[in-house]
Amino acid sequence: MKKVKIKSPANIAFIKYWGQRDKKLFLPFNDSFSMNLSSCYTILEIEKKEDPKIQKLYVKDYEKDNFEIKTDDSFKKVLTFYHQAKKFLKVKKDYGFVIYSYNSFPKKAGIASSASFFSALALGFSWLFEKKLDKKNLSILSRLSGSGSSCRSIPDGFSWWYKGKKSSDSYAISIAPPSYWDLVDLVLILNKKEKKVSSLEGHIMAETSGLFKYRLLSLEKRLKEIKKAFFKKDFTYFGNLLEEETISMHSVMMTQKPPLFYWSGKTVEVIKKIIEQRKKGLEGYFTIDAGENIHLICQKKDEEKFLNFLKKQKEVLQIIKNYPTYGTKFI
Ligand code: DP6
Repeated sequence: MKKVKIKSPANIAFIKYWGQRDKKLFLPFNDSFSMNLSSCYTILEIEKKEDPKIQKLYVKDYEKDNFEIKTDDSFKKVLTFYHQAKKFLKVKKDYGFVIYSYNSFPKKAGIASSASFFSALALGFSWLFEKKLDKKNLSILSRLSGSGSSCRSIPDGFSWWYKGKKSSDSYAISIAPPSYWDLVDLVLILNKKEKKVSSLEGHIMAETSGLFKYRLLSLEKRLKEIKKAFFKKDFTYFGNLLEEETISMHSVMMTQKPPLFYWSGKTVEVIKKIIEQRKKGLEGYFTIDAGENIHLICQKKDEEKFLNFLKKQKEVLQIIKNYPTYGTKFI
């Protein structure tokens, strides 16, 4: 075979990865936990070329008609990962490749676009180098791409990333299949522009926040509790922990040096509206990654009611409906 096509989802973190205890191996300070998103994915096609000098990346951005060749930073990251993958897979020979990648959602808007891309690429490179990896090793390889959270997109449904003691035991596994719980993630797009500071730059400075060590202490309890809430399917308990976690991570972001304010005024307005709706009996909870857009987590039974409400809010430009889904796979 000369060419393969891969589909990989983005994921939303219920418990977040912020800060790296090893900045070369992308080892996190804490375990994290996420759900794969059905409508936010990357489709990546990779073609093998015998001539190792041919190494190309074409990207079709969200809402664009054509693929464009990339020679900027995004291509440099792909090349760095190519060499990392070659080392990890203990391959001597070089291969040429042409990649075509398409994203189903706006890039860098707090929906971890790099997670879906790099998890797809991890599978793509293992195919290119003719190595069949199990999900554990694929998850480790994906983490080494630099997009740590991409390791959680490899397994199906709901993923738990163990921080591990060393590189070989820091990977994600599926703790429940997509069908386990009919949760819905309504991604509320408040701004379609790319964020100014990437997660990668943000991670590096996380420890400069005076709140960082307290966050780690509080996480020990929150991790245990969220697992309990998840396996009991106790949505109220689960949702409260989601919001607590979001506020904890963003407090660190806002107090690190230099401070990172991913939230905008619109973010705060929408958070308030979600809390207000909850008081009126419509139960949903917010979670936010590195961007100003909000993920509203609700149960399937309330999806329509939320859609009706959210469509009327002036801050919300677009809503992307997501259900739990499978991890990285060939299509
Ligand atoms: C805030 O370094 O994995 O989303 O490569 O941009 O996807 P990307 O980010 P990464 O950091 C993710 C940070 C986070 C929280 C999380 O997803 O756990």
